[in-house]
Amino acid sequence: MPTVYFEEEDKTIEVADGVSILDACNEIGIHLDHACGGVCACSTCHVWVNKGFDNLSELEEDEEDRLDGAQNVTMKSRLGCQALIHGDISVKLPNQKGLH
Ligand code: FES
Repeated sequence: MPTVYFEEEDKTIEVADGVSILDACNEIGIHLDHACGGVCACSTCHVWVNKGFDNLSELEEDEEDRLDGAQNVTMKSRLGCQALIHGDISVKLPNQKGLH
């Protein structure tokens, strides 16, 4: 099973193949904003995937358009609700409040 390492919280969880980063956050109790409810209509679920970027589902055009409107976008940026996990990744959540 793929693992997700949350860098700032120093926590790792195993997830089922194909789970989104947003769902992984919910599973471990880490708050990730998701104003549109996970339908690629905002950019509040923006995350940085510092390791394992290629272990995610392809970046689709819709997601790319949304990321254009996000702050602090880098080459490692994805939307947590759109990026599906297919292998080990390490993520950092910009502007998040951590564990809730
Ligand atoms: S929650 Fe709105 S785009 Fe991900």
